[in-house]
Amino acid sequence: MKARCWVIYLLLHLTGKVSLQDFANKFDRVVGDSVTLPCIYKLQSTDVFWRHNVSRKVVSIISGKPSPESQDEIFRNRTESFPSEYPEGNYSIELKDLELTHAGIYTCFLQKTNEKRKIQLFVREKPEKPTPNQRNSSMETQSLKIMPFLIAVLGLTLHLI
Ligand SMILES: *[C@@H]1O[C@H](CO)[C@@H](O)[C@H](O)[C@H]1NC(C)=O
Ligand SMILES: *[C@@H]1O[C@H](CO)[C@@H](O)[C@H](O)[C@H]1NC(C)=O
Ligand SMILES: *[C@@H]1O[C@H](CO)[C@@H](O)[C@H](O)[C@H]1NC(C)=O
Ligand SMILES: *[C@@H]1O[C@H](CO)[C@@H](O)[C@H](O)[C@H]1NC(C)=O
Repeated sequence: MKARCWVIYLLLHLTGKVSLQDFANKFDRVVGDSVTLPCIYKLQSTDVFWRHNVSRKVVSIISGKPSPESQDEIFRNRTESFPSEYPEGNYSIELKDLELTHAGIYTCFLQKTNEKRKIQLFVREKPEKPTPNQRNSSMETQSLKIMPFLIAVLGLTLHLI
């Protein structure tokens, strides 16, 4: 049992991307960009709430439908939700035409199980000219793709102990 805990701890530590509660995702964008914030759950829910900096309303999915009424005005006409993905437990949203004020912490809250996914978004001023070392957005997608692999390794390791 002790060894098991150690392995879990070590793997989580090594990946540096995982906490016990949620997978901490970080996105780095420039003013005017778009970003798709991922929120994947294993089970479906009809009520999912996206919030910015704890309380600001981004998207509320109520009774299986995105409900724009109570949306904070800094997000008006800037969000897209993907209802066709809900049956897959995918409650990701897209934010468009980013401004500096959109930086911060986003949470995707699944009411049914009281679970949260947290995402940190950085928004920077547009650089005068593109810097050669600018982080490519494909880096995030790569680190997302690696997650199932890490989970598989973790599962296998637990099995072997
Ligand atoms: C949002 O879009 C609607 C329709 O496209 C438009 O009438 C409205 O003025 C827009 N609101 C903002 C804040 O841009
Ligand atoms: C979730 O839906 C978004 C929007 O359609 C899509 O970009 C993303 O790839 C989907 N994620 C998964 C894991 O299916
Ligand atoms: C949200 O929090 C981030 C980081 O603390 C901050 O930069 C941003 O201005 C905040 N945005 C709003 C609209 O409160
Ligand atoms: C970023 O990725 C895109 C495709 O994902 C590629 O076309 C582009 O050249 C990359 N840019 C840099 C600076 O690596």
